[in-house]
Formats: sequence, structure tokens, C-alpha cells
Amino acid sequence: MKYVKLGNINTPVSVIGVGCMRIAGMTSSQLDHYVHTALDEGINFFDHADIYASGKSEEIFGELLSQQPALRNKLYLQSKCAIHDSMYDFSKDYILSSVDGILKRLKVSHLDSLLLHRPDALMEPDEVEEAFQTLKKSGKVLNFGVSNMNRFQMEFLGKRLSDGLAVNQLQMSAAHTPLIDAGINVNMMNDAAVMRDAGTLEYCRMNDMVIQTWSPIQKGFFGGTFIGSEEYKELNSVLDDLAEKYGVTNDAVAYAWLLRYPAKMQVIVGTTNSDRLKNAANAAKVELTRSEWYQIYRAAGNQLP
Ligand SMILES: NC(=O)c1ccc[n+]([C@@H]2O[C@H](COP(=O)([O-])OP(=O)(O)OC[C@H]3O[C@@H](n4cnc5c(N)ncnc54)[C@H](OP(=O)(O)O)[C@@H]3O)[C@@H](O)[C@H]2O)c1
Repeated sequence: MKYVKLGNINTPVSVIGVGCMRIAGMTSSQLDHYVHTALDEGINFFDHADIYASGKSEEIFGELLSQQPALRNKLYLQSKCAIHDSMYDFSKDYILSSVDGILKRLKVSHLDSLLLHRPDALMEPDEVEEAFQTLKKSGKVLNFGVSNMNRFQMEFLGKRLSDGLAVNQLQMSAAHTPLIDAGINVNMMNDAAVMRDAGTLEYCRMNDMVIQTWSPIQKGFFGGTFIGSEEYKELNSVLDDLAEKYGVTNDAVAYAWLLRYPAKMQVIVGTTNSDRLKNAANAAKVELTRSEWYQIYRAAGNQLP
């Protein structure tokens, strides 16, 4: 496994992280096996959100942590808040009460990081700073970050935050590349040239932020995986060839493609299958060449100008 430094935590976090959005249906023994499989593979990072299965994902994870308290110090625990009642909410009261709910469900005294899940159009940076400082002083949250924010939103918010932002969690996969396309198509008249995010990846790199990629093998917005999909024949053929070359599975190549981006990258995988988790861990062993990275990008249907 490879690791990156996230915020002010001394223990680095694994470049493959476990996304807990889909775990709510697991039995306690399945979850036990799943979490220990991750740890055996060197994966120490678990990503939650208060809304996953309406709190059930955190709840069953918390049960496991309470049964095996020694686990807590082996894990880096992240959760997210800001989505509720069909709106986005960065108000101080909401952030504080959401974190209390998260800690209660996870049965822990602190989170290693908290992300604001989706930008709130009504955000007041000073209010967010107050909430973050309250959480930091009480020891409830050690690091802060955002998710799905563009460059200007991070700059706007970050200006008021004494501790800055350690993370941005963004949708990115070989089949979902708008964050990359505009940079490749600068000054062209095609659709790919439209800069929708104002240089978000570059901003994260300039500010030493960890970029966490969500839905790393999904097509579109929860459109199912592109692995083995007829719609992505050429991409799968390239992934299969490279999988053979590197002695890993094709999904691991898709994760390695994300890890090849030269920032502090973390891939948040969503599989609920322990064997697939092991396959995912192998992605950290693969260092794609520049030519292979572009080959995958093109095979996903993108054209270079
Ligand atoms: N910040 C945000 O707004 C946001 C939004 C969405 C997600 N997330 C985070 O990102 C994490 C990952 O998202 P995701 O679950 O959509 O990611 P994903 O890893 O792209 O998709 C996982 C899904 O693909 C299936 N799958 C099919 N074939 C697979 C294969 N060969 N290998 C692995 N999985 C395969 C999995 O099924 P099996 O379980 O059967 O393997 C699972 O249903 C979430 O858990 C959450 O933590 C964040």
C-alpha cells in the first residue's frame, strides 16, 4: 500500500480508501471480515457521511468499533455533513448537531476529518469557521475539508478558515473526466473545452490538498460500473490488457489510472465485496506510464486536440 499525508495527522492515510456508502446491508460478521480485509491490505481509511442509508452505515460501523475498541486507533475515520431535508446546509448549528449525531452513531469521541458534502449556495464562511473552531477546540474533529467544490468556492471559504482545507472529495473516474478535459482542451471550440470547475484540481495541488475521488468505476452519476460494460468496450479492452501486463485485475488498473494523476490522490472505492477490496489494494502497486494513462483516457472516448 502507498500512503499520503492528510492535514495535521501524523499517520499517513492509504491511497485506497473504503467508501461506506453501500455497507448498510451487511451483517455484522460480513462487516467484520470486510474491515479486517481492508486493514490486512494496509487500507486504513474509511469514508462515511451522515446521510448514508440515513445513518445506518455509520451505525453498523459504530457497533463494530464498540465490540472491538482496539480498532479505533488503527483507522482513519472521515465523515461528511451538509445534506438534509432536500437542501444543503453550512449553518453552524447544523454542522455542530450533525457531528454530534455522527460521533454517537460511530461510537467514537472524534473524527479524523469532516467534509462539507456539497456546496451550500447560502454559505457564510465566518459561520463555517466558527463551527470548525468549536469542533477543533472540543477535540471532536481534527481536520476539515470539502466535497464537490470548485476552485472559487474553496478560495472563498478557505480565506476565512484559520486551518485551511485539507481535502476535496470529487467525482472522477476514467469514464467521468470533466475536471481533466478542460485543461487538455484549452482554447478549443469543443464541449470538452468548457471549464466548468475553474481549475479545481490545480487549486488542490497548489494548496497541498488531498484529492479524494468518489465513484471511481462508475459511469455518469451512479450509472453503474463501466467495468465489463458493453458501452465501454474499448476502455475495457485497454484495462484488460494492462491488467494482464501488471498482474492485477482490470478494476485495479482503473484505480491506478486515478492514482497516476500527480497530486496527493486517494481513491475511495465503493465495493462491498472483500475480494474486490483486495483487488483494489493492488492498484497501489501499479505505476502506469504516461503513455498508458493517455491510452486509457482516449479509450474512454476522449479525443486529444
Ligand atoms: N462526496 C460525494 O458526493 C460522494 C458521492 C458518492 C460516493 N461517495 C463516496 O465514494 C464511495 C465510492 O462510491 P461508489 O460506491 O459509487 O464507487 P464505485 O467503487 O465506483 O462503485 C461501487 C459499486 O460498483 C459495483 N461493482 C461492480 N463491479 C465491480 C468491480 N469489478 N469492482 C468493484 N466494484 C464493482 C460494486 O458492487 P459490489 O459491492 O458488489 O462490489 C458497487 O455497487 C462511496 O462509498 C462514498 O464513500 C461520495
